[in-house]
Amino acid sequence: ASGPLVDTHGRVHRDLRISLTDRCSLRCTYCMPEQGNEWLARTSILTLDEIARVARVAAADGITTFRLTGGEPLLRKDLPEVVRRLAEITGPEGEPVELAMTTNGIGLGAVLPALVDAGLTRLNVSLDTLRPDRFRELTRRDRLGDVLDGIAAAAASGLRPLKLNAVAMRGVNDDELADLVRFAIDHGAEMRFIEQMPLDAGHTWDRARMVTRDEILGALAGEWTLTPVPGRGGAPAERWMLDGEGHTVGVIASVTAPFCGDCDRLRLTADGQLRNCLFSTTEYDLLPILRTDGGGADTAIDGMLRACVRGKLPGHAIDDPSFLQPARGMNAIGG
Ligand code: GTP
Ligand code: 5AD
Ligand code: SF4
Repeated sequence: ASGPLVDTHGRVHRDLRISLTDRCSLRCTYCMPEQGNEWLARTSILTLDEIARVARVAAADGITTFRLTGGEPLLRKDLPEVVRRLAEITGPEGEPVELAMTTNGIGLGAVLPALVDAGLTRLNVSLDTLRPDRFRELTRRDRLGDVLDGIAAAAASGLRPLKLNAVAMRGVNDDELADLVRFAIDHGAEMRFIEQMPLDAGHTWDRARMVTRDEILGALAGEWTLTPVPGRGGAPAERWMLDGEGHTVGVIASVTAPFCGDCDRLRLTADGQLRNCLFSTTEYDLLPILRTDGGGADTAIDGMLRACVRGKLPGHAIDDPSFLQPARGMNAIGG
């Protein structure tokens, strides 16, 4: 390695989001079409050893956080082994890495003890609604009960901070924001509301229909006094304290208040493509390196990480008239 992963805009990359599969147990309208997507070819999915190898090189280059994503990472059968292998990785000075996961929670209770034992340090769970009928319509699956069981298991695990994610949607869940916050508080979690991004399968995203950060804050301000929490760093979420007490809420306003200037993220897809942005249209293919006879050289992986970082644009161009959604769906990028 030759120092940290700094791009041409001075951003130092510390966070690698690793998508373990493009498959999912739900079909959320803002992410996937009803029939699912054409899945990635099984032969192109990175193996446990290949993921661990890329992660080890990334850690040597200054990546300090790995976040497991999907599709749904719980569908990956070797998940406890993936966690164990990644948790063993350390930084250049032997520092431990943070190893987080973003999940829909379905089936989480059954494997969570094994994941914690293997070294998982943090969980974010998606929860868009508390109403079974709405959940069924939004996700096209009748599984709210399974999600709530998963959140209960996450709360009981003691992994903290625990975060719950809701994409705010007009006419879908925008009247339950305060209920979601109260639910999160009851589970020792932080509720976070997300502006919907143009990454839906149907390409039906419409900025004018999107629930904005300011609308979200307006709804919450009717219930609580919001005090900003300083020290955001490179985090996507802005946070507020509720009534000056210990509880907090977050808003991820990627559209109306983009945080690209502080972005410290890279992404690895389940089929071995490095991406420097959620919205990037260029990918950096690691498969030829990982799958040459003898497994290629770590320096080649390092070179690809650096090429990916070098190619990073200053930010997304959602507001640009020429903006094009990436070809890959959200389920194959990892969020
Ligand atoms: P924490 O480290 O716990 O704050 O997690 P996170 O918010 O970075 O990750 P999570 O997987 O919970 O994602 C929450 C929302 O933030 C999702 O809608 C993601 O798509 C979005 N998100 C995560 N990283 C980025 C990013 O770099 N850019 C943009 N625009 N959105 C992001
Ligand atoms: N816009 C914003 N967030 C999204 N997510 C999935 N699709 C979108 C979208 N189009 C969120 C999920 C999950 C996280 C990984 O990304 O709700 O919380
Ligand atoms: Fe980073 Fe792209 Fe997200 Fe902006 S949109 S914060 S550049 S990943």
